[in-house]
Amino acid sequence: MDIDACLETMTTAEKARLLAGADHWTTCADEAHGIFATVFSDGPHGLRKQEGGCDHLGIERSVPATCFPTASALACSFDESLIEEVGAAIGEEARDQGVDVVLGPGVNMKRSPLCGRNFEYFSEDPLVAGVLGAAMVRGIQSRGVGACVKHFAGNNQEHARMVSDSVIDERALREVYLSAFERVVREARPWAVMTGYNRLNGTYCSENLLLLRDILRDEWGFDGATVTDWGAMSSSAASVAAGLDICMPGPRADHARAIERAVVAGTLSREAVDAAARRVIELSLRARRGRSIPYACDYGRHADVAYRAACESAVLLENDGLLPLAGTERIAVIGSFALLPRYQGAGSSRIEPVCLDDPWSAFCNAGVEATYARGYDPVSGEADEEALDEAARVAAGADVAVVFAGLPDRFESEGFDRKLMVMPRGHRALIERVCAANPRTVVVLQGGSPMEMPWRRLPAAIVLMHLSGCQGGRAAVDLLMGRANPCGKLAETWPERLEDTALGRRFPDTDREVLYRESIYVGYRYFDAAGVQPAYPFGFGRSYTTFSYADPEVHIEDGGYVVSCAVTNTGARAGSETVQLYTALPESRDVREPRRLAAFSKVALDPGESARVAMRIDERAFRVWDRACGSWRVDEGDYELAIGASSRDARLVLRLPVTRGAAPFAVSGPCDRASGMIPEAYLHPSSAGFDDTAFAAWYGGPLPTRRPVRPFTPDSPVSDMGSTFVGRQAFRIVDMLMAKTVARMSDDMRAMMDEIAADMPLRSFTSGGVSFGVVEGLVDVLNGHGVRGMAKIARGLPKSDVFR
Ligand code: BGC
Repeated sequence: MDIDACLETMTTAEKARLLAGADHWTTCADEAHGIFATVFSDGPHGLRKQEGGCDHLGIERSVPATCFPTASALACSFDESLIEEVGAAIGEEARDQGVDVVLGPGVNMKRSPLCGRNFEYFSEDPLVAGVLGAAMVRGIQSRGVGACVKHFAGNNQEHARMVSDSVIDERALREVYLSAFERVVREARPWAVMTGYNRLNGTYCSENLLLLRDILRDEWGFDGATVTDWGAMSSSAASVAAGLDICMPGPRADHARAIERAVVAGTLSREAVDAAARRVIELSLRARRGRSIPYACDYGRHADVAYRAACESAVLLENDGLLPLAGTERIAVIGSFALLPRYQGAGSSRIEPVCLDDPWSAFCNAGVEATYARGYDPVSGEADEEALDEAARVAAGADVAVVFAGLPDRFESEGFDRKLMVMPRGHRALIERVCAANPRTVVVLQGGSPMEMPWRRLPAAIVLMHLSGCQGGRAAVDLLMGRANPCGKLAETWPERLEDTALGRRFPDTDREVLYRESIYVGYRYFDAAGVQPAYPFGFGRSYTTFSYADPEVHIEDGGYVVSCAVTNTGARAGSETVQLYTALPESRDVREPRRLAAFSKVALDPGESARVAMRIDERAFRVWDRACGSWRVDEGDYELAIGASSRDARLVLRLPVTRGAAPFAVSGPCDRASGMIPEAYLHPSSAGFDDTAFAAWYGGPLPTRRPVRPFTPDSPVSDMGSTFVGRQAFRIVDMLMAKTVARMSDDMRAMMDEIAADMPLRSFTSGGVSFGVVEGLVDVLNGHGVRGMAKIARGLPKSDVFR
């Protein structure tokens, strides 16, 4: 198709119409011009293709698909090729179900363990999220289906996610929050990028020129389409001008009209509209071409991929030698999660699994002599005395007790954040009672993010399964029985206590202006800089075998360095080891993390077998963002290269002088920044030191002030309306309209809806089919212009506002 010729024959109205969805999941087709619709569907740990009722919160049903482990689990595999395989399987199911673009992966950083959506994200480390996110994109796209990387950018809390403003200094933005997106875009060339709901440094991501034009397209060379998160569009003209291509969901006739009006008024250029329309057409052509690529979709084989992924992602946190089990023991299987496992997260990523196995059935199928005790209520997590007594009795009568515990759905979900890092009381009480009844107890943890484990010294072993997908039950049992050897490593720090994290209880920020006061000190970067000992450090994970490291070497190759060492399996079982390489510049006078993950490589070894593991690093392993120059800089200096089994377990350390002329990339002189110019809080970080004064100095510009509640605008959140009579009546109407849907919801969904609804901007009513005119009318009424507002509401009500 000749896109230039096509655009020439189209009117502005026709082009503008392409820039919003036709319905919840599909873009607009234009048969007269030969433009086909593109079909989106959620991921990212499987496909959520909806056919009947549509929603973006996981409420309505979807077509069954394979449920893979969620990203927080998959990341612990540190296995690019496995994640590529998972991506390919999702791509095949997308083809099978007529989906062109999968909405995922999510590569946002885990800023605090409390973010409700952490289970959907890979890591607190941008290298891990970037490398694994790119692998997922390559996998999906290898099957002729597009991936839509999300949520770009600085979207790190669920609380007030549609109205919050992430205030991030340039260094943290570049080094932590954009870095994974950059890698994915540059290395895997995704077809699409989804903008976050939030504002970034004052401007909504969907209309952020710096993000969408300067960085994404001009700097990183992104050549795909940009899509709003569902309901994220604030200003039609501003977003198109910034480089936003598709407003979802549709229909949004108002979006097209606003674009046309802005073109006529001269506030939006025709070129910007053409560019966006061109990218929408290009996306539909890619999808068209993709549909002709041969593929085979075998759900049975995908279940095997899900099984392998669950095994490779499991992390053995503790083992005093009890594991692996011999298989001849009488086993007490305790905890409702053994029968009703928590295997995926709540919200827009929730899918209907084609098949689902549970640990209890897996034990039975393995021919093990097993007894079951429920222990706690699967929904609330509460345990009564009777259930605890029964569990203790069953445990005492067995050779080994296996307790399944963790975080129930209502403890973590899209749409709200956790308030604390604790497990339900009932789960904790159960673990303590069972460990007291039988010291040969194993705890198997299910949940999407870190939990406080004051009991962690009690059991003989702890296996972290995370949310391990539809085959997690079988995988857990095979790992316990030694049919598979755990090899996962933590892709995020597991703190001892919430108070030990950089943000502690200050997350989520209740202000809408969310100051990222801790700057680059996210995850292990903070724990290392502040000298805080976590329960389990980043990169940590045990195995049933042991590995030794020897003979480190570094040499220059192809514009970078290759760092290598010999790794030997010194135990009696076959196993895999993720070798990690960290860089540091100990003498730095600038703000810098004490160590940075620069590369990793996973190697599978038989007992006694050795292999040489080589890791390639380039200037990204050394660079810092230079605010003054607006570019990256590599400081000259004596770097340390630590090769090890975790961030706190360096086995081999090399010194690497990086000097101008001798390094394989451009190097600046040694950093001459006088330390007096840097706020103390960032040179010697501690949670308490990250205050507003230090941050204001470090941020380098005025901090945003609170946005006034009045006058109301379409961006005002629903909760602000509560102060007006009209607002309270509007609440009632919304409640009435939602009553039927809410009645069908589970507890966790209701909790999610309550939080989301409170902080939803008024404009997001348009996602529910209300026209933008009605929203504008409501805003007028709220601002005291009753007559004008009611007239707009009356005009906005007819269905003519909707594309057909
Ligand atoms: C989520 C996105 C998702 C979209 C469509 C939004 O609520 O933030 O991740 O892709 O809904 O379901």
